Amino acid sequence: MTLSPLSDSNPAVTVTGITKSYRTGFWLNQSVTTVQDVSFSVPRGQTFGLLGPNGAGKTTLLKLLLGIAKPTAGAGTVLGMPLGDRPTKQRLGYLPENAYFYDYLTGWEYLEHAAAIFQLPQKSVQRRIGEILDQVQLSHDAAKKKLMKQYSKGMLQRVGVAQALINDPELVFLDEPMSGLDPLGRYQIREIILNLKRAGKTIFFNSHILSDVEQVCDSVAILANGKLLCCGALEEMLTLGDSYQVRGRGGDGEKLRLWLGDMDFQNGWWQGELDRDLTEFVATVSAMDGEILQANRQRQSLEAFFMNQLRRANVVPS
Ligand SMILES: Nc1ncnc2c1ncn2[C@@H]1O[C@H](COP(=O)(O)OP(=O)(O)OP(=O)(O)O)[C@@H](O)[C@H]1O
Ligand SMILES: [Mg+2]
Repeated sequence: MTLSPLSDSNPAVTVTGITKSYRTGFWLNQSVTTVQDVSFSVPRGQTFGLLGPNGAGKTTLLKLLLGIAKPTAGAGTVLGMPLGDRPTKQRLGYLPENAYFYDYLTGWEYLEHAAAIFQLPQKSVQRRIGEILDQVQLSHDAAKKKLMKQYSKGMLQRVGVAQALINDPELVFLDEPMSGLDPLGRYQIREIILNLKRAGKTIFFNSHILSDVEQVCDSVAILANGKLLCCGALEEMLTLGDSYQVRGRGGDGEKLRLWLGDMDFQNGWWQGELDRDLTEFVATVSAMDGEILQANRQRQSLEAFFMNQLRRANVVPS
């Protein structure tokens, strides 16, 4: 399946033909291309997941969007401004992949430091830190009294997300926000992301944890060996054609068998696969005094889709 890049008249992010090569080798006379001719856009207010195997170029792409690294070729915009625009950085949040947390600062002091970088007005900083700690569900007491060397991995990751939100950004970049967390920690990060989305923010994050991505993302892109394999709305990617898995009760088993593939019929309850018009089927079932209890579009998991894309691109053997 080839999916067209997302289109939007006022996107949060857009890149066209963006490429990044690094000079390597002792004499810096070799070159390695880590992001190659990538084009896509992310509509505002969306949760966007960038997926790809280790070394695919995800972090590099994030750095290009944040203006931390400069593209070798191509161009892009973030919140309508060219990549690297300094005033725009005030409107962005960023959790780096391996964020450094100062062992001998408390979480509160760390957030004061983040607020100072953004030159937030002194009188509102304490209130803002309190609000953000509530948002990421970190206790004010722990943030004030405990040094960060005493924090669990989950607490550190949440204080990391908190610093990314200190300036109330419109667009937040999170590089592997769930990595190394237990199921509860991942749940908490997912909730934070969903709450940000509810507040109208755009969230752009890299992740290897496909089940989490599937739960929170509106759209995804898959990158491998620096190239974009696909990009689009998650539901569109995972939906398999126009067939439905339907479940119901009552009606005439023999007639239902004419409609449903792989049908299972027991004690008046039935289920099967419908690849014909759903409205017509609903009318047929009600005409025979039956009832449809569930009709779900057939969809594949994000993991199945992801592996398929990597196989098709010969990134993994078929
Ligand atoms: N400064 C650099 N100089 C040379 N090569 C680099 C540099 N930064 C990254 N690379 C190379 O670019 C490739 C992509 O790296 P990147 O960190 O963007 O991948 P990633 O998709 O984020 O991987 P992971 O999932 O492991 O975090 C890797 O092969 C890496 O070695
Ligand atoms: Mg990375």
